[in-house]
Amino acid sequence: MITRSRNATMKTFAITLLAASISLLTTSASAADPAHGRQLQEANCMSCHDNSVYTRKDRKVTSLDGLQKQVRRCELTLGLQWFDEDVDDVTTHLNQNFYQFK
Ligand code: HEC
Repeated sequence: MITRSRNATMKTFAITLLAASISLLTTSASAADPAHGRQLQEANCMSCHDNSVYTRKDRKVTSLDGLQKQVRRCELTLGLQWFDEDVDDVTTHLNQNFYQFK
């Protein structure tokens, strides 16, 4: 009785683990994740400027490439040590919601 239910628990655990690793794999293989970028940006990037810096009339960034460089620059100023993927996620989020470069 006990053995059987433990077995079932192990099976569920193994299946959960498998599902989790599959979803991890597909996430890292797919394109940038702007929802994650928004989380990162809202948690880290509001101390010097708020979102209005991205929409002001005389904004500095004029291309997607420039946006990515600026995100990296500000991130480095903060000493956050983000992965390239994190910079991509934030860049994608800012581009989708504010800059809208093609
Ligand atoms: C230490 C202060 C500071 C922090 C924290 C900071 N920034 Fe900045 N950011 C600046 C300054 C200064 C500018 C330039 C403003 C200007 O030129 O008037 C700027 C400008 C920008 C711009 C360009 C805006 C434009 O004119 O188009 C982007 C994009 C940007 N920051 C993204 C970020 C992101 C993403 C983060 C979080 C990782 C972040 N910033 C955190 C200081 C900061």
